[in-house]
Amino acid sequence: MAEENRRFLLAERPTGPVDENTYDLVREPVPEIGEGEALVRVQWISIDPTNRTWIGETPTYLPPVAIGEVMRGLGLGEVVASNNENFPVGTLVNGLTGWQDYAVISDENPLMVVPEGVKAEPAQLLGMMGMTGCTAYFGMLEIGEPKEGETVVVSAAAGAVGTVAGQLAKMKGARVVGIAGGPEKCAWLTDELGFDAAVDYKADDWREQLVAATPDGIDVDFENVGGEIMEAVFARLNIRARVALCGLISGYNDDEPPPGPRSFGNLLINRVKLQGFIILDYYPRFGEAIGDLSQWVSEGKLRSEETVVEGFEKLPDALNMLFAGENMGKLVVRIAD
Ligand SMILES: NC(=O)c1ccc[n+]([C@@H]2O[C@H](COP(=O)([O-])OP(=O)(O)OC[C@H]3O[C@@H](n4cnc5c(N)ncnc54)[C@H](OP(=O)(O)O)[C@@H]3O)[C@@H](O)[C@H]2O)c1
Repeated sequence: MAEENRRFLLAERPTGPVDENTYDLVREPVPEIGEGEALVRVQWISIDPTNRTWIGETPTYLPPVAIGEVMRGLGLGEVVASNNENFPVGTLVNGLTGWQDYAVISDENPLMVVPEGVKAEPAQLLGMMGMTGCTAYFGMLEIGEPKEGETVVVSAAAGAVGTVAGQLAKMKGARVVGIAGGPEKCAWLTDELGFDAAVDYKADDWREQLVAATPDGIDVDFENVGGEIMEAVFARLNIRARVALCGLISGYNDDEPPPGPRSFGNLLINRVKLQGFIILDYYPRFGEAIGDLSQWVSEGKLRSEETVVEGFEKLPDALNMLFAGENMGKLVVRIAD
């Protein structure tokens, strides 16, 4: 057991990407547990675009992390000491551990126990079989509702949610177009993940690529990015298209919201259904999603991809990797064996 508890505390709210002034790395004693509490050794931390939204000034679906508070983050760990029979020593738990080596949990402040039947690598428990996979599952299958032969567009398609969302739409028989940055990611989407086409939004002709890849317009937009990309996609939405508004990562490092989409009127004209969603609302149904996703992975119908960064100190840099597009699939940091 490590003899100290390393923790990243929020030192100041960043303007743009996080930098060396954003966090204080402190070393504290490993916490003592009281009655009804259990001690979790955090082993893996999930890096999510929403981490950046939590350290801005503006409240989102959760209050901003306070200055001096441990950085909020999802993680996976093992109970190493316990005074709570619901969390015996050796239990694997998943949830908001924070960016720290040790977290104290209790019935009032619990983490989700990983069901014993779920067969997955730790990184997959934070990715395909965690919040990420559930986001793709409910967002695509219940809001996007792709049908055979329809055209589905997924932005940030080579990322954690996008890779799963696109594959799920393929399983439903849709024609799936991914939008991603750079020719390598685009080739990977079509050659390895089975997408029908990919649009490189970093190429000068990306708008023409989008038109060429969606000759019949767009029936489902699984929106992860926002800004100009979303605007171009909206302009091609068909009658009764659906937009699963999952994320707007292109604006997360900006203080001001981007100008509104000029193609917004097309949503009205074409009777498009747009639904924003926050995966926390689906929490009671995570078991259903994880059961299906793990089965489809074991049957070879879904492929999970992870990018692993080693070392606790790398957490802030890892967060910036998402905005530079330096991940393929789910980005996780291993902080302990
Ligand atoms: N609604 C919910 O409950 C919920 C839950 C989870 C995630 N989300 C949202 O889902 C989206 C994807 O999250 P994730 O965890 O799967 O992250 P991710 O896609 O693995 O990582 C982010 C990716 O976004 C792309 N990107 C970054 N900046 C961009 C920009 N300015 N323009 C276009 N693309 C950009 C990068 O890929 P490229 O190399 O292709 O640029 C990067 O790899 C995010 O918007 C996130 O907030 C929402």
